Amino acid sequence: MLIAGNWKMYKGPAETAEFCLGLRDQELEGVDVVVCPPFVSLAVAVQLLAGTEIAVAAQNVHWEEEGAYTGEVAVGMLRELGVYGTIVGHSERRQYFGETDETVGKRVHAALEAGLFVIACIGETEEERERNETEDVLRRQLSVLEPDDNLVLAYEPVWAIGTGKTATPEMAHEAHDFIKSQLDVPVLYGGSVKPENAAELLSRSSIDGALVGGASLDLESFTAICRAAIRS
Ligand code: 13P
Repeated sequence: MLIAGNWKMYKGPAETAEFCLGLRDQELEGVDVVVCPPFVSLAVAVQLLAGTEIAVAAQNVHWEEEGAYTGEVAVGMLRELGVYGTIVGHSERRQYFGETDETVGKRVHAALEAGLFVIACIGETEEERERNETEDVLRRQLSVLEPDDNLVLAYEPVWAIGTGKTATPEMAHEAHDFIKSQLDVPVLYGGSVKPENAAELLSRSSIDGALVGGASLDLESFTAICRAAIRS
């Protein structure tokens, strides 16, 4: 079971340090824990979590080794910091920053090639679900990915992100089953995961963990979700 906290554009180095110092002292045996701070906070997170089982991942990475790509970060730069992996293809990148299936595929491929662990995000919008297109969308998003020991997927229905609307465990289970029929890798669920709903979601056999946004920013709620994973 894997619980990853996607901090999005929250927590600079000072707040990251405070969180990591707190996290270090928690007993979290029996669950794999990953935190994904913004780029500028990765170094301090790596430093403060060194020697623990908690991994640090970025929220994005570019596919070229280096070059004139303003605002992007290369795989080698993450490796140099001691970062363990990266999220790729989050729906916020797809929605607001023009990320496409093609660029997601290139980012994932480059990160895996370099030995990074990758959490690749997929998921349908509300309109796509209403039009009964969920499986078509997932199939299309998955078409650029190949199984790899260092790859996990995160199924994040866009309508459930930051909205307080969670997919029912049944809906998530159905989507996860479909995803696994297309690509046989672990699948995390993401979208308004909270301490209150984590245990029920994580009890489903097709749900291999969670990618947590808002509730990962607070040490208490994040560790409560990690503990729910340990118990499940
Ligand atoms: P919330 O948990 O805030 O809904 O965000 C989910 C998410 O986007 C994690 O990547």
